[in-house]
Order: sequence, then C-alpha cells, then structure tokens
Amino acid sequence: MLRRIHGGVSWIDSEKFLDFSVNVNPFGPPKEIVEKLYYCINNKAYKFYSDPNYRLLHKTLSEAYDIDEKNLVHTAGASEALFLIIKCLISRGFRNVFLLSPTYGEPEIKALAKELGARASFILMGEAQDKFYIDLDSLIDNMKDIKNTFLIISNPNNPTGIYIDQDNIKAIAESLEGRGFLIIDEAYSELSRKRGGLDLLNYYDNLIVVRTLTKLFATPGLRTGFLASRNKRLIECLEALRPTWNIDSISSCVFSGRPLRDKEWFKKFISDTSGKIKALREDLENGLKKIGFKVFRSEANFILSKIIINYNPEEFYRKLYLKNIVVRNCDSFKGLDPRYFRVGVKDCSSNKVLLETIKEVIKE
Ligand SMILES: Cc1ncc(COP(=O)(O)O)c(C=O)c1O
Repeated sequence: MLRRIHGGVSWIDSEKFLDFSVNVNPFGPPKEIVEKLYYCINNKAYKFYSDPNYRLLHKTLSEAYDIDEKNLVHTAGASEALFLIIKCLISRGFRNVFLLSPTYGEPEIKALAKELGARASFILMGEAQDKFYIDLDSLIDNMKDIKNTFLIISNPNNPTGIYIDQDNIKAIAESLEGRGFLIIDEAYSELSRKRGGLDLLNYYDNLIVVRTLTKLFATPGLRTGFLASRNKRLIECLEALRPTWNIDSISSCVFSGRPLRDKEWFKKFISDTSGKIKALREDLENGLKKIGFKVFRSEANFILSKIIINYNPEEFYRKLYLKNIVVRNCDSFKGLDPRYFRVGVKDCSSNKVLLETIKEVIKE
C-alpha cells in the first residue's frame, strides 16, 4: 500500500512536542484570520454547502494575487491542485511525468501516474558543498526528445530550499513549448523573499503555477489554494475534474472577502512575515553550522541539514523525540538518506531550544 510520509505532528500531540518537521508560517495564523474563522463558525457556515461556483472566494483570490478570474481554479490546498493537474494532463495524453528531486510528494505522484498509465521519472539535483543546485542544460537535455511530457518543480524547493530564478524558469518553459508543460509548485513562495512565477503566466501557454494559503497562514486544516494558467483548454479540463464542493464551507468563508480582500493588509502581512523568517533562518543556519552539521543554503522557511559528525542518525531522531522535539528525517526523499534532516524555522526561543537540545543529544 502507498505510504504517505510527511512532516507535522497531529494537533492531539501539539502541546507535547516542539514540532520542527512542519513548514508552515512559524508565527501561526494572524489574528485577522482567526477572527474571521470565529465569525464563520458563529454564523454556522458549516451548516451550509459552499457556493458550488465559489464566486466570492474566486474573486477574492484573483484580486489578492492579480490573476484574471478565468485563469484560476481554486483547490483544497496545493496538494489537490497537483493531483488535478496530473490527472488532467495524463488524461490528455501527457504520459511522461518528470519531477525535479528530491522534492515534495514523490511517492504519491509516482503512484498516481502509474495508476493512470503514465510514468514518473526523477531528475536529481546536484549537491554542492553548501547548496543543492540544478544543471539547467542537463535538465533540459534529459527531457529533450520526449513528447507529451510535463515537469513538476517545487520552488522554493521542499526539502532542499533552493530557488530557481525566473530566467531559468523561462528557459525550461520555452524548452517544453509545443510538447509539454511546466508546473511550478510555489507553496512556500510568500514565505520566502523571492519572486514567484505568477507574472510569467501571460507569456507561456504551457506554464501552470500552484499556490496555497495553508503555509502562509499556518492553516493546513483550512484546505485552500489554487492553480493558475492562461491555457483556456487546460482550465476547462481542470474545472471539469474539480469535485463540486472541493473546499469546505468554513475554509471558503474564512478566505472569501476580508481580510484577504484588503490588498494593503495582505501585501504588508507577506512582506513582514517573510522578512522576519529570513532573519530567523539565518540565525538557525549559523547555529546548526556551529554544531558541526552541514547546512544547505535555503531561500525558504525551512532548512535542510546533514549530520556529518560521527553520530548515528536514528539515535539522533530517537533522542530528540524523547526530549519532545520532532525534526523531519529526509530519508524518504529521492537521493537523500537518514543523515539529512529538515527543520522548519520557528520563533527565536524555539529555535534556541532546538539548538541547545541538539547539543545535549550529541554529547550523550
Ligand atoms: C512543496 C509543497 N507543495 C505542496 C504541499 C501541500 O500543501 P497544501 O497544504 O496546500 O496541500 C506541501 C506540503 O508540505 C509542500 O511542501
């Protein structure tokens, strides 16, 4: 059976553990979103079906992100967007799926492609001294003679934290023109300070961008995200595959209208949050390096690190767990092994606790 391995302890255990295995906004949902949630509950939104066309949610998302309404499909988070895209493209004959690995969702995407009669292949990033990287020429070369194909890139990438800039994204999209699609999963875009791919959409028919609100607002339980493309035929296919009430009425109530519709608030929130995260990430990177771990340069709200001291990784995870700290063992990702672990950046005092606890553990 397909085993889905992801970070994040359940809410039942959340009081007990300091959870670094999850990558959501470390400051939690902003008060404006929490207030809206109470409003939706007090007005008993859960007693009703969502509007099957999600008119207000659709309008709100398209205004907040400056995307033409007709180019947007709202989804239950980025994961549903990815599943819908894969189903749609395979059903339209695009049977060669490529992933830039290590990356999010490898086993699920492989299983889904196989089930639908397609093939998933993994192109591995290179590992340099202080970062993972892509070799653009060989990436493009790998897919050169393959027709009916599509490539999924998570940008910034989970778990390596690398960011592929717009010029490279353009080169990849252009290399696939006429025979394939490029899907950029930008689940962490708002939490990094890097430019996403939404403003490229107008130039490429074969480009699809995926976004989510679950990471930005630290609300993975309110499953809301979207995908965007200017390709009319593709949007029709995705809308046809989208289940009628794919987003529950509480989530769609929270993210429809205010506060998301307040553009100034939204912009400021993203800018403040990503700025704070960058500073915290740099401190945490330095702390991990001082301990003697390898740290890969990240542009996101998480860090990939590697145990290069003489210490058994399984013991490392077990001992941290006994001290109520959870980090993400990355051995389930292609090309990584148990020495690689990922930590989501948290607030300053939690990050300190992590570093102190790691020091204690490796002394034992
Ligand atoms: C790169 C990436 N894409 C998508 C997702 C899923 O996000 P969502 O909660 O919006 O489904 C994750 C979650 O970990 C992720 O890391």
